[in-house]
Amino acid sequence: MSYKIKSYFTVVIMLVFTTNIFSSKNTKPDEWVQKAIDRAEYRLLDAAKIYKSSKLNPRTFENGKIIYAGSNDWTCGFFPGSLWYMFELTKNEKFKTEAEYYTELNDAVQFRKNTHDLGFMLYCSYGNGLRLTGDTAYKKVLITGAKSLETRFKPKVGLIKSWDSRKQWQYPVIIDNMMNLEFLMEVSKMTGDKKLKDICISHADKTIKNHYRADNSCFHVVDYDSITGVVLHKQTAQGFADNSSWARGQAWGLYGFTMMYRETKNPKYLEQAQKIAAYILNYPTLPKDKIPFWDYNAPNIPNEPRDASAAAITASALFELSSYVKNHPEYFKTAEIILKNLSSYEYFSTKGENGFFILKHSTGNYPKKSEIDVPLNYADYYYLEAIVRYMKIKKISYKK
Ligand code: GLY
Repeated sequence: MSYKIKSYFTVVIMLVFTTNIFSSKNTKPDEWVQKAIDRAEYRLLDAAKIYKSSKLNPRTFENGKIIYAGSNDWTCGFFPGSLWYMFELTKNEKFKTEAEYYTELNDAVQFRKNTHDLGFMLYCSYGNGLRLTGDTAYKKVLITGAKSLETRFKPKVGLIKSWDSRKQWQYPVIIDNMMNLEFLMEVSKMTGDKKLKDICISHADKTIKNHYRADNSCFHVVDYDSITGVVLHKQTAQGFADNSSWARGQAWGLYGFTMMYRETKNPKYLEQAQKIAAYILNYPTLPKDKIPFWDYNAPNIPNEPRDASAAAITASALFELSSYVKNHPEYFKTAEIILKNLSSYEYFSTKGENGFFILKHSTGNYPKKSEIDVPLNYADYYYLEAIVRYMKIKKISYKK
């Protein structure tokens, strides 16, 4: 071999070697996410197959038993929503078939006027279905559902009423209700019905005014006089105490105000989202792995159950917030830490356990001693949504 050819090969080998070093450095951070999607694929396809005969959506797995969500359960949209996100991530047509089946189980929800949860129930299921397939029948369901939800808005109060059946309150509004606004905003754009957008703005503005405390944490429930709209009570239903910070409530608020900024570009919503993010990220009881206890003020921290659902919602919201604010790298970094930790076997189920749900260690309603340290369909949903958002920001896609 001549000297020239030898040195040519040396250069080529060096190039291949260095490219490999760099490319393995660049691809390594994404291996965990590829694996997480692979594993989620097995969990959810098994779940879709096994639970089909019930003709209901699975909600949780508690005391060795599967609990289902019928069309009067606020969580009935999350399992189909997870199937839609898996379809988006993997392009596996089996997910589309299953997502359609489980979405359409919720058909009756569109006519319900006795709950504020129509956003969760319809937007996560039919909303994602419409986004990914363009099916106009789904659009019709969403429009009918938004009209049903609109009936719960009283102009004098300026907010959407959350619950009907709690005798101790007149016109209760819970922080979770911020999550229904995305649904109304979408339908407002779809139909040109500006009233729906105005309702969202009024609800968000009053929520800032009445739900938030000076330290930027929030109450769970604010009860209003149903005639005058005056605030009557500020309390909790699912948190440790009226003045404590229920972890999922803080996450709902962060997500809701980030979304309101996306939809209106009004800087006051961005400012509110950033204040909430600062509260969550700097709170002294937030554990190192960034998966919060069920309430930031739970009395026996660190011997308290975690809430993986609050972590997943927070991560999804922080990814979105990170795309609007460039001088706060901690938003993206924290969301990535949450996602990585939820993808570890500390939180991620092993095959066949956990009722075929993806994540372990969520808390539904601690004061009612219900759904403590269990899987929850909404933890899985927001975890997958956070993965979708992470991959979009990083411009990476799933490869089988
Ligand atoms: N929306 C009820 C909950 O977060 O538990």
